[in-house]
Amino acid sequence: MSSGAFGGRFDPASPNAPQGFAPGEIPLGIDVPADAGFSADGDSAADAASPADTVLAAGARIRRDRIALGGGEADCGGISGLVVHPAHRGDGLFGQLLRGVLARCAEEGMALSMLYPSNPEIYRGHGYQVVARVESLLVPLLDLQRLQPVPGRRTLAVTEATMPRVRALYEELTAGDNGMLRRIGPFFPPGLPGQGWCAVLLVDEAGRDRGYVSWTRRVGQEEPGLDVHELLGRDREDRLALLRVLGSWSTVTEQIRLRVRSEDPVLDVLPSGRTRPAPGPVPLVMTRVVDTAALLAARPAPAGLDGAFRLVVDDDTASAGTCPAAGTFDVAISDGTVSTTPSAAAPSALPIVRLDAHAAALLLTGGRSLADARRLGLRAEADPAAGALLDALAAGPRPSVLDAF
Ligand SMILES: CC(C)(COP(=O)(O)OP(=O)(O)OC[C@H]1O[C@@H](n2cnc3c(N)ncnc32)[C@H](O)[C@@H]1OP(=O)(O)O)[C@@H](O)C(=O)NCCC(=O)NCCS
Repeated sequence: MSSGAFGGRFDPASPNAPQGFAPGEIPLGIDVPADAGFSADGDSAADAASPADTVLAAGARIRRDRIALGGGEADCGGISGLVVHPAHRGDGLFGQLLRGVLARCAEEGMALSMLYPSNPEIYRGHGYQVVARVESLLVPLLDLQRLQPVPGRRTLAVTEATMPRVRALYEELTAGDNGMLRRIGPFFPPGLPGQGWCAVLLVDEAGRDRGYVSWTRRVGQEEPGLDVHELLGRDREDRLALLRVLGSWSTVTEQIRLRVRSEDPVLDVLPSGRTRPAPGPVPLVMTRVVDTAALLAARPAPAGLDGAFRLVVDDDTASAGTCPAAGTFDVAISDGTVSTTPSAAAPSALPIVRLDAHAAALLLTGGRSLADARRLGLRAEADPAAGALLDALAAGPRPSVLDAF
């Protein structure tokens, strides 16, 4: 059903056909009667059908992901492959399925859910909010070719043996970000990714790993070139050294396509103003709060931030009530941790922040402020003291996600 909706060929008889769902994926579906007629009184025959007489009418997969949250981590349900069979579209199954998905995310202890929408509006009605976009830039290689060597740095080819060092650098250098997937677990098996993926590792004179750049050489397409997946370094010098490595392709291609995070530090070292956005659609990333208390507790508080406020989350979306996102929470911040107590909404002397489900998704994913939420027209009201605390807690880079699913 998924390949029918999103493209590709799925031949169950082929020896290469997937034999089931990937480990780490939770499949969910809705069955309907194979011959979905109507009884004389006009009711659907679904209730009367035995399981043998049913067919799959809608399905989705939840990935068990973990994401970075400003130095902390949270369990996240990554939703993919959501599809309603063409025979059953327009019957309201989408909403039924998504409510089931969110209820299952809550059962699994996930703090939030994330997806790449092909139609953001239909997810918005269920409390998802756009928090990030995946951006790629076209960088002319002539500019990179002129970069000077960086003293005290050398590069190593990434092999099976050095791949764990690349993984460790990714985890370390993106730990303070918001939204970046932790590349652990079944979706990120150890070893080289294959399919043309290459990388070099940057080390200093003391043998310390400083960063890496990874890419795939595009061949046989209209516009051959280099797709750079990510360039991560500890400091500016590291990033310059890695950009210089990319400049060495200038003899065979004119530009690279460089995938960047929001506010990527590599933007600060690109040597010319001739970089431009890559053509094509810009994938959006949406999140939805599943468990407000768990999401707040997952984020460490900045050192020196102390205080308490009451957070009220109003969820009036089509998925309200499927997960513990809405409610009144008393939030205490001290010694670098956040503790959250669901409250019975009894009167309190605490200053209050009141958010709708969309503002909650925007702010609790991190890197955005109450003022940003208001600029987007989301409901975000706050007593000044409470608003200042929440903004300080959620401060950090705007969310980014580099792994597509
Ligand atoms: C998109 C899809 C899942 C909708 O399923 P459905 O059961 O037909 O949807 P519903 O009838 O429950 O409608 C849900 C909402 O989506 C809207 N919608 C449905 N299809 C739409 C379309 N093609 N374009 C815009 N809006 C659409 C409906 O108007 C409705 O909005 P409302 O809640 O404001 O009333 C289904 O058409 C499908 O499987 N499409 C192909 C795969 C796909 O696009 N999956 C989503 C990937 S992100």
